[in-house]
Amino acid sequence: MTKTTPPDVESEGRAARSLAALAGISAELASARALESTIDRALGTLRSFLDAAEVSLWLHTPTGLSRAWVAGAEDTTETEVRNGLRLGDGLTVVRDLEVAPVILGDRRVGALVVRTSRALGDEERMLLTALANLLAPELAHAERSRQLEVEVASRTAEIERGRRFTEKIIDSLPLGLYVIDREYRIQSWNRKRETGMQGVSREEAIGRTIFEILHRQPAEMLKREFEEVFSTGRMQEYQTESISSGEARTYRITKIPMRLGDGPVSHVITIGEDVTDWKEAQERFSQAEKLAAIGQLAAGVMHEINNPLATIAACAESLGYRIEDLEKAGVVLAPETHDFLGIIENEVVRCKQIVDGLLDFSRPKQARKERVDLNEVVERTLFLLKHHVRFKKLSVETDLDRTIGRVPQANSEQLVQVLMALLINAMDAMGERGTVRIVTRAGTDPKRGVFLDVVDAGHGIARSEVGKIFEPFYTTKAPGQGTGLGLSICYGIVQEHGGVIEVESVLGQGSTFRVVLPVVAT
Ligand SMILES: Nc1ncnc2c1ncn2[C@@H]1O[C@H](COP(=O)(O)OP(=O)(O)OP(=O)(O)O)[C@@H](O)[C@H]1O
Ligand SMILES: [Mg+2]
Repeated sequence: MTKTTPPDVESEGRAARSLAALAGISAELASARALESTIDRALGTLRSFLDAAEVSLWLHTPTGLSRAWVAGAEDTTETEVRNGLRLGDGLTVVRDLEVAPVILGDRRVGALVVRTSRALGDEERMLLTALANLLAPELAHAERSRQLEVEVASRTAEIERGRRFTEKIIDSLPLGLYVIDREYRIQSWNRKRETGMQGVSREEAIGRTIFEILHRQPAEMLKREFEEVFSTGRMQEYQTESISSGEARTYRITKIPMRLGDGPVSHVITIGEDVTDWKEAQERFSQAEKLAAIGQLAAGVMHEINNPLATIAACAESLGYRIEDLEKAGVVLAPETHDFLGIIENEVVRCKQIVDGLLDFSRPKQARKERVDLNEVVERTLFLLKHHVRFKKLSVETDLDRTIGRVPQANSEQLVQVLMALLINAMDAMGERGTVRIVTRAGTDPKRGVFLDVVDAGHGIARSEVGKIFEPFYTTKAPGQGTGLGLSICYGIVQEHGGVIEVESVLGQGSTFRVVLPVVAT
């Protein structure tokens, strides 16, 4: 500012420069994109107009401290500026501060603050007020966009929280779960799929195609399965066996179509659930049902068969007496007569054994129950078998845990019958030679409180046959050697005791039959 120019010329020149500055600022604001930098530039223009050396200038908004500080403003305190904001609607002078409120409608959105070492001229003040008015909508815009930014950030955080929550849910499921899109790319992969022998980490899986990750399954087959769900929109469910975890497990695989909106299937959710235990329980249940049906059938038929059997036995006995009488009287009979009679008696006994076996199913189970020590059951059985001619060549090893709990509600006669049936089977499997081991052990929990194992080194059982051996009348023994009732009776007795029979067998190596009984009342 030059002091030599006459006052009117000076003031005219100033007014012209004011207008030029205002036009510049206005043009800048009109083309404003990045509002904050534009405001900064507008303030810069004003400041250069007011004279850089003597003037500090800044814009203050209610949300923050001061924005758009310009050099020289640092020694003005925030309180001073804030006080300035509380002033009236017109341009106000607070000590050495001049404050022009920035007002939009009836709302004050900020204040334009100037500190000068000299009083501002009228044009300068007009320029300040005009700039404040120009800035009002821009500032409101800037504020709105900052609010939007905050809102977007908080929405994003909310969505992220929601995403984490959903992820936590699918991670907590005891199921393997993954989601693929139309391009077969994995979009979601839960924790269960990360664990286990075939586990793949989420980072590795997400974004890759399912064929790259599940390369154990033929890609063609996988594709066909997914294509079916994509095209039909129907859920698919099937069971599959896998030995990837080291033991044979059964999985139920479900493929569920998913749509984003009303359009076609956009994703497929695949769930894999280990249903091995469920399947076994199901099989046991159907086994129990079969036994119950046999029991009912047996109850009806046995009565009918017992009577004629008793009649045949009585007739055979009378015939025997008659023959004796005749022989005493000197009559010579055909030499086979005694043999035939013997055969009749033996066969009647055999029939009676079958009938009795079946009656074990059908008789109401009212055997007396008491606390029974499994080790005593083992000892009693071995004592009985010592006198059994078929057991003479067999050696029995025992490994009894004396600390096991007693079975609170058991019938030791029936348990002896079970162990005897298992030992006879073991002996049959080993060709009457070899060693059978009987082991007792404490179990894993009160419901599976004690284990009784019968371990043989016999011919074993084929995997495909294991499921059948507890079925009544299932036998691989020659006619007359076995009825196929032994194990089904054992099954019924053990089940009645609240326990289970389990079997592990390797063909050609031997079998282990395990009776598991509870040590709590069931
Ligand atoms: N320890 C074992 N080793 C190999 N196979 C066995 C063993 N125990 C049972 N099995 C198989 O299971 C079948 C059924 O056994 P289960 O005891 O029910 O009938 P069985 O022995 O044939 O006749 P029963 O016991 O009525 O005289 C047997 O025929 C045999 O094939
Ligand atoms: Mg048997």
